[in-house]
Amino acid sequence: MRNLVIAIDGPVGSGKSTAARRVAELLGYTYIDTGAMYRAVALKALRAKIPTDATEKLVALAASARIDLRAQNGTQRVLLDGEDVTAAIRTPEVSQAASKVAVIEGVRQVLVAEQRRAGASGGVVMEGRDVGSVVFPDAQLKIFLTASDEVRARRRWLEHQQKGDAIDLARTLEEIRERDRRDAGREHSPLVRAEGAVLVDSTAMEPEEVARLIAMLAREIAAPQLR
Ligand code: DC
Repeated sequence: MRNLVIAIDGPVGSGKSTAARRVAELLGYTYIDTGAMYRAVALKALRAKIPTDATEKLVALAASARIDLRAQNGTQRVLLDGEDVTAAIRTPEVSQAASKVAVIEGVRQVLVAEQRRAGASGGVVMEGRDVGSVVFPDAQLKIFLTASDEVRARRRWLEHQQKGDAIDLARTLEEIRERDRRDAGREHSPLVRAEGAVLVDSTAMEPEEVARLIAMLAREIAAPQLR
């Protein structure tokens, strides 16, 4: 099958990661989670006690961070300067900080350049907020994945519960709305439905249905090459 770039964008809890990972598995593609890169920069900043408004310092920090996304037994490991930070970047504190460092244009430029390198030869499923609009505006398949606020909050809350994080559902709903506002309201590369992106509402869909729908669309686009 032709090596497509598949861009999946959407708000928190829309099911992007689950869908993107599964689509990559179904098609034998590489899965790239761009949010993990913003999270890794945020974690490095929190550890270095750099405030989220110290723009220049954060751009330098993003440029100096070595972020590696590695596939391992069907999961993705995130390495920051050689350290496995896969679990450390998933706390509510890092989530909020990631959406704050993502507002900074210079930080975005550094990470977008890396994302373009990672997807240059195609055969990738890349998920984030601006993949179809900025990183790969010419991606052959763009998906804008969404779901109702309540369903997205419940999904995120269940993830926290499974990890033993004490956070209630109402607080989770507030947090995702706060992040949505920041991600969609920022000046540089806000979360938008990219031109040509297929809108998929996962509110009443099982993760497997979402993934198979996207894989089917991908096969449809790649099919002319097979004939
Ligand atoms: O997808 P996520 O929740 O792991 O992303 C964490 C934050 O990073 C999110 O609040 C917004 C930001 N982000 C972004 O601005 N652009 C991307 N392509 C991916 C994530």
